[in-house]
Amino acid sequence: MKFYIWTIGCQMNEKQSEELAVLLKKNGNIEVDSPELADLIILNTCSVRRRSEIRIEGRIGEFKKLKEKGNPIIVVAGCYAQAHKEKILERFPYVDKVVGTFDFLNIPELLNDGKRLYVEEKKTEWEIVLPEKAKVSSFIRIMEGCNNFCSYCIVPYVRGRERSKPSELIIEEAKGLVARGAKEIVLLGQNVNSYGKDIPGEMTFAQLLYRLNDIEGLERIRFTTSHPKDMSDELIKAMAELPKVCEHLHLPVQGGNDRILRLMNRNYTKDQYRRLIEKVRNAIPGIALTTDIIIGYPTETEEEFEELLAFIKEIKFDQVYSAIFSRRPMAKASELPDLPYEVKQRRYEIFNQVQNEISKELNERLIGTIQEVLIEEAKTKFPNQSRGRTRTNKVVVIDEKIEPGTIVKVRIKEASEYTLKGEKVE
Ligand code: SAM
Ligand code: SF4
Ligand code: F3S
Repeated sequence: MKFYIWTIGCQMNEKQSEELAVLLKKNGNIEVDSPELADLIILNTCSVRRRSEIRIEGRIGEFKKLKEKGNPIIVVAGCYAQAHKEKILERFPYVDKVVGTFDFLNIPELLNDGKRLYVEEKKTEWEIVLPEKAKVSSFIRIMEGCNNFCSYCIVPYVRGRERSKPSELIIEEAKGLVARGAKEIVLLGQNVNSYGKDIPGEMTFAQLLYRLNDIEGLERIRFTTSHPKDMSDELIKAMAELPKVCEHLHLPVQGGNDRILRLMNRNYTKDQYRRLIEKVRNAIPGIALTTDIIIGYPTETEEEFEELLAFIKEIKFDQVYSAIFSRRPMAKASELPDLPYEVKQRRYEIFNQVQNEISKELNERLIGTIQEVLIEEAKTKFPNQSRGRTRTNKVVVIDEKIEPGTIVKVRIKEASEYTLKGEKVE
């Protein structure tokens, strides 16, 4: 069969789609890059905000015509499928199968059975799925699910509780990826720094980093996402000591006011977060910090929003992934009255203006410095350009063709809020 996978959502989804493609290809199927050419269409979906759901619903709608023309098998899978199974079956009768997050990697086997719905919560059977050729920067899913129940978030409802992948499998997977060309691995999970707590006798996340650091041929290690409440001294020490662990931490703060943080069920105060950042910056000089922030949380006042702005000006994050609050039916925050859309939108625009200035200022400070850049596969339209990342996870564009996978020294010449430009010096 010819198959096409469309993916939306977080890096976990991106990785799971890659794994599914490997499994389907193993069975002799061929991946195509357009739904028109496919006998099997799989949508790997996200439910984190209403906006993603609207895009998904639009996309499923587009496939109706294809179904009428060539009768491809249509599978709606992932988080949106887990959350809205009945709605999909009713509203889109031409969808052949609805597959939740627990069954995603079983799709190749499910194709030959007559059922339409697979959304049961069940034990995660971990397996290592290696591609023939690994990307320079390759993901490893080290855990699934989340126990935190932040009041706004749907993830614990659609991905279930935390399940860690046994460490020996992670190490074997990392070695397999390196043997297939990976130079960097990015460890993925909703809350990676609580890794191992669900398996008696399993190593801690910090201990896992020490083991991965020993892998020959591996150059860099990154991880995302960490929760401030699980950011242990042991982990900070590991980050400071281990040469392969990059100087970047993505540590979502979500809010900049204690009342809002309490409402969000984040389990820390603004001051605790501030002190944590101080500790991290003292232990790892030059570390880049990025975060997630929700704008326009229910009941957020103008003063509280001002306090959030003052907080980002004080901390100076290298980058902020900001999102307007979106009401999720299962999550607790949906019980609170939503702010008017115009208020949320205005605050979002102001917020991003302020943060873009900060990101730009921090990037401009790098002009004239020499950075170590790992060149990644071409994501540029220009044949004589290369792209890579600094150890601090900043994207650098270089006007020269350089082999992906090489590490080069680059002098930074230009900076914007999102990217740097530079020239190779070595
Ligand atoms: N586990 C990670 C964490 O703790 O930050 C990431 C979870 S989520 C997949 C990614 C981001 O989406 C969150 O950090 C949050 O900022 C945002 N998000 C989650 N639910 C949201 C909602 N209801 N409205 C707006 N943004 C939301
Ligand atoms: Fe959602 Fe909070 Fe879990 Fe992140 S930690 S996935 S924001 S519930
Ligand atoms: Fe979306 Fe599911 Fe990831 S809801 S953000 S795809 S865990």
